[in-house]
Amino acid sequence: MEVFVAKSSAIAEGQRVLIDHKGQKIGVLRVNGALHAFLNLCPHQGGPACEGMLIHKIEEVIDEDKRYLGMRFHDRDVHMVCPWHGWEFNVETGASAADGKHKLKRYKTIEKEGDVYVVV
Ligand code: FES
Repeated sequence: MEVFVAKSSAIAEGQRVLIDHKGQKIGVLRVNGALHAFLNLCPHQGGPACEGMLIHKIEEVIDEDKRYLGMRFHDRDVHMVCPWHGWEFNVETGASAADGKHKLKRYKTIEKEGDVYVVV
Protein backbone atom coordinates (compact mmCIF):
# COMPACT_ATOMS: atom_id res chain seq x y z
CA MET A 1 0.00 0.00 0.00
CA GLU A 2 1.42 3.37 -1.06
CA VAL A 3 0.97 6.22 1.41
CA PHE A 4 1.45 9.79 0.23
CA VAL A 5 4.20 11.61 2.13
CA ALA A 6 4.72 15.01 0.49
CA LYS A 7 5.54 16.79 -2.71
CA SER A 8 9.08 15.96 -3.84
CA SER A 9 9.99 19.62 -3.53
CA ALA A 10 9.18 19.48 0.20
CA ILE A 11 11.98 16.97 0.80
CA ALA A 12 15.07 18.69 -0.54
CA GLU A 13 18.58 17.34 0.09
CA GLY A 14 19.12 16.95 3.83
CA GLN A 15 15.48 17.62 4.62
CA ARG A 16 12.92 15.28 6.16
CA VAL A 17 9.22 14.90 6.67
CA LEU A 18 7.44 12.94 9.39
CA ILE A 19 4.07 11.41 8.67
CA ASP A 20 1.59 9.65 10.92
CA HIS A 21 0.21 6.44 9.44
CA LYS A 22 -2.30 4.57 11.58
CA GLY A 23 -0.64 5.76 14.77
CA GLN A 24 2.91 5.06 13.64
CA LYS A 25 5.30 7.87 12.78
CA ILE A 26 7.48 7.39 9.70
CA GLY A 27 10.38 9.66 8.87
CA VAL A 28 11.23 10.25 5.20
CA LEU A 29 14.45 12.03 4.31
CA ARG A 30 16.64 12.71 1.30
CA VAL A 31 20.40 12.17 1.61
CA ASN A 32 22.93 12.03 -1.23
CA GLY A 33 20.00 12.48 -3.60
CA ALA A 34 18.15 9.35 -2.47
CA LEU A 35 15.01 9.02 -0.38
CA HIS A 36 15.00 6.89 2.77
CA ALA A 37 12.13 6.05 5.12
CA PHE A 38 12.17 4.59 8.62
CA LEU A 39 9.80 3.98 11.47
CA ASN A 40 10.46 6.74 13.98
CA LEU A 41 11.20 4.25 16.73
CA CYS A 42 14.72 3.68 17.99
CA PRO A 43 15.57 0.01 18.72
CA HIS A 44 17.41 1.11 21.89
CA GLN A 45 14.60 2.46 24.06
CA GLY A 46 11.98 3.70 21.63
CA GLY A 47 13.20 7.25 21.08
CA PRO A 48 12.30 9.35 18.02
CA ALA A 49 15.37 8.40 15.98
CA CYS A 50 14.11 10.07 12.79
CA GLU A 51 14.05 13.44 14.54
CA GLY A 52 17.75 13.45 15.37
CA MET A 53 20.46 15.42 13.67
CA LEU A 54 22.18 14.23 10.53
CA ILE A 55 25.95 14.02 10.63
CA HIS A 56 28.55 12.50 8.33
CA LYS A 57 30.12 9.33 9.69
CA ILE A 58 33.34 9.99 11.57
CA GLU A 59 36.21 7.73 10.60
CA GLU A 60 39.76 7.23 11.81
CA VAL A 61 42.59 7.93 9.38
CA ILE A 62 45.47 5.44 9.33
CA ASP A 63 48.37 5.87 6.89
CA GLU A 64 50.27 3.14 5.01
CA ASP A 65 52.67 2.74 7.93
CA LYS A 66 49.74 2.10 10.31
CA ARG A 67 50.16 5.49 11.99
CA TYR A 68 47.07 7.07 13.39
CA LEU A 69 46.50 10.48 11.80
CA GLY A 70 43.31 11.55 13.54
CA MET A 71 39.67 11.60 12.52
CA ARG A 72 37.68 13.00 9.65
CA PHE A 73 34.15 13.10 8.33
CA HIS A 74 33.36 10.46 5.70
CA ASP A 75 32.68 11.90 2.25
CA ARG A 76 29.40 10.08 1.69
CA ASP A 77 28.09 8.05 4.65
CA VAL A 78 25.58 9.98 6.74
CA HIS A 79 24.27 9.00 10.16
CA MET A 80 21.06 9.98 11.88
CA VAL A 81 21.55 10.43 15.62
CA CYS A 82 18.75 9.43 17.99
CA PRO A 83 18.13 12.45 20.25
CA TRP A 84 17.56 10.40 23.39
CA HIS A 85 20.92 8.67 23.93
CA GLY A 86 22.91 9.28 20.76
CA TRP A 87 22.73 5.97 18.95
CA GLU A 88 23.70 6.57 15.32
CA PHE A 89 22.09 4.91 12.32
CA ASN A 90 23.32 4.77 8.73
CA VAL A 91 20.64 6.50 6.67
CA GLU A 92 21.13 4.17 3.71
CA THR A 93 20.71 0.93 5.65
CA GLY A 94 19.07 1.90 8.95
CA ALA A 95 21.73 -0.13 10.76
CA SER A 96 23.25 1.03 14.02
CA ALA A 97 26.77 2.34 13.53
CA ALA A 98 27.88 0.62 16.74
CA ASP A 99 26.20 -2.74 16.22
CA GLY A 100 24.65 -3.49 12.85
CA LYS A 101 22.27 -6.08 14.27
CA HIS A 102 20.18 -3.20 15.65
CA LYS A 103 18.28 -1.54 12.82
CA LEU A 104 15.57 0.98 12.27
CA LYS A 105 12.55 -0.47 10.48
CA ARG A 106 12.92 0.58 6.88
CA TYR A 107 10.25 1.31 4.27
CA LYS A 108 10.48 1.42 0.50
CA THR A 109 9.98 4.86 -1.01
CA ILE A 110 8.52 5.77 -4.38
CA GLU A 111 8.90 9.11 -6.12
CA LYS A 112 6.63 9.69 -9.11
CA GLU A 113 5.08 12.67 -10.83
CA GLY A 114 6.51 15.06 -8.27
CA ASP A 115 5.17 13.21 -5.23
CA VAL A 116 6.79 10.98 -2.61
CA TYR A 117 5.18 7.84 -1.18
CA VAL A 118 6.17 5.16 1.31
CA VAL A 119 5.11 1.54 0.91
CA VAL A 120 3.66 0.16 4.15
S1 FES B 1 16.25 5.56 22.54
FE1 FES B 1 17.48 6.03 20.83
S2 FES B 1 19.47 6.04 21.61
FE2 FES B 1 18.27 5.46 23.27
